[in-house]
Amino acid sequence: MPNEGSYEAALRRSNEIQADIDAGKTEKYTMLTGDRPTGRLHLGHYFGTLVERVRLQNLGVKTNVIIADYQVITDRDTTEHIQDNVYNMVMDYLACGIDPAKTMIFTHSAVPAANQLMLPFLSLVSEAELQRNPTVKAEMEASGHSLTGLLLTYPVHQACDILFCKGNIVPVGRDQLPHIEVTSKIARRFNSRFGNVFPEVSGLLTSNPLIPGLDGRKMSKSYGNAISISMTEEETAKLIKKSKTDSERMITFDPDNRPGVSALLTTAGICTGRDPREIADEIGNGGGGALKSYVTEAVNSYFAPIRERRHEFEGDLDYVRDVLADGNKRANAIAEQTLGEVREAMGMSY
Ligand code: TRP
Repeated sequence: MPNEGSYEAALRRSNEIQADIDAGKTEKYTMLTGDRPTGRLHLGHYFGTLVERVRLQNLGVKTNVIIADYQVITDRDTTEHIQDNVYNMVMDYLACGIDPAKTMIFTHSAVPAANQLMLPFLSLVSEAELQRNPTVKAEMEASGHSLTGLLLTYPVHQACDILFCKGNIVPVGRDQLPHIEVTSKIARRFNSRFGNVFPEVSGLLTSNPLIPGLDGRKMSKSYGNAISISMTEEETAKLIKKSKTDSERMITFDPDNRPGVSALLTTAGICTGRDPREIADEIGNGGGGALKSYVTEAVNSYFAPIRERRHEFEGDLDYVRDVLADGNKRANAIAEQTLGEVREAMGMSY
């Protein structure tokens, strides 16, 4: 966790940027964010970040979304199913409202000039700075894998992702702020050593509600508590039905003592725009069964149009491939331009 002072400062900056964007001053902002293609996107991704990406996109911010395929191997040994995961990720994005005419969608591995920024950038950080990054430590512990060189340098390749397209806002949760600090540091150090190429980078702290998994823990595919955007109505119903509530019939919203029941109420609340307590009161003595039917209906009706659009993309893989090829082409042009500026600044134009 960053110290309070820097958190407060980051929050103040983030609020200023949000105010600018809300006031229509979007032209000075370029957003970059992305996901690792390790599986299907779920409701946590949807409400936690996809909705915000679409909002920024539609307000006129330049939006860029990286499918971070190289990051898949930061803490695992295999790239099994990666192509399938990447195409499905594009389908999830498109179904959720990411518009490829406005947002550049691209894969890490297809943009060599962006990856080449890694070399000068690595010279701008010390081993100690990499070693003490809390996100790197947390990821290593969670993976149960030894610390690979790729994971250790993960904040530096995120800096390449953000800076090649001169991204200056990155939507993040509070725990991701240390990453943004590494990127800002790299940008500042590069500019002061070699010349002004990169922008000032800020985290856009998202105030979106955190949606728990069906058991009340963090939503994660590996816990089996995640509803994927791509699930059918039947799969959704089955997963909700299987989720653990408790033996008390009276439904109440009490996240500390009744994590399962409360997670279901939160999920229904977010999909219907209602207060979870009000839903609890309405179900009252109806018990877990009535609660689960309510949640299933809430999730399935919210996602019905999104899933319908997704089916269309599933049937048109050529289109999905074209979207990605076009994004990759645009990303390469931008990355080559930036790498040219970097070489120029470093006196490496031959
Ligand atoms: N690390 C992000 C994830 O785990 C994906 C990602 C890659 C990213 N590069 C980025 C996010 C740059 C923000 C900025 O899903």
